[in-house]
Amino acid sequence: MNKISIENLSLRYSDGTESLRNITMGIPANKITVLFGPAGGGKSSLLRILNRLNDLADVTHLDGRVLLDNEDILSPKTDVIQLRRRVGMVFARPVVLPMSIRQNLTYGLEVAGVKDRHRLEAAVERSLQQAALWDEVQDRLDDAAIALSGGQQQRLCLARVLALEPEVILLDEPTSGLDPISTGKVEESLQELKQTYTIVLVPHSVQQAARTADFAAFFLQGELIEYAANKILFTNPENQQTEDYVEGRFG
Ligand SMILES: Nc1ncnc2c1ncn2[C@@H]1O[C@H](COP(=O)(O)OP(=O)(O)OP(=O)(O)O)[C@@H](O)[C@H]1O
Ligand SMILES: [Mg+2]
Repeated sequence: MNKISIENLSLRYSDGTESLRNITMGIPANKITVLFGPAGGGKSSLLRILNRLNDLADVTHLDGRVLLDNEDILSPKTDVIQLRRRVGMVFARPVVLPMSIRQNLTYGLEVAGVKDRHRLEAAVERSLQQAALWDEVQDRLDDAAIALSGGQQQRLCLARVLALEPEVILLDEPTSGLDPISTGKVEESLQELKQTYTIVLVPHSVQQAARTADFAAFFLQGELIEYAANKILFTNPENQQTEDYVEGRFG
């Protein structure tokens, strides 16, 4: 079943750049869908539309529909704050808040009105467990988050999104600044998390795309070139451009 349906979505920025051209695709629930392809293909633009971060950008033309559980999130009636609680985003560069590890995780819930200490503590442990960080930080939850390593900060950012119990998690090259061990930990936790969440990942390499994908979509200059289940795009693509890209002939 599709958690998100993207229908005939086109996006043009005010400088005339056509970043997405008539994209139609479904994003299945409880799977990892990867959006991959060379720079400037429109991957980040598409992720940003999925939680309306594009509202902040200089967009002149946005056409089509994006349904989340059959509701059009592009409708002016959509409660954007509520939408961003349901659809969380993790960025390439971890941005931790200048607070303790614990406060990084409870802040969003407190802003949302949660006061119950037990509930906040439970969310701290659950989200750190899910982000594969609990073992490393459980004895120092009151230390400054900024003192964590880059890989730990990135998992803390993932935990911060998970603390809010979203339904969909968007990740834009979340491991681009990480060492291979931290990258492996993030990839492992994504495999666990898909039991509970719908995951949309822009990977930082073709190899990561192939390792993580349940569904894979190849984007080139704003167009969805090929989209398929499993790892077919990496082993037996139909399109010549997909094949050239996954085999490293351009990129
Ligand atoms: N805020 C913006 N204003 C104008 N043009 C933009 C804006 N954001 C992106 N673009 C343009 O839209 C196109 C798609 O960019 P986008 O960042 O979505 O690609 P991407 O696939 O994520 O690339 P990368 O792999 O480099 O992250 C590019 O031509 C880019 O220059
Ligand atoms: Mg991008």
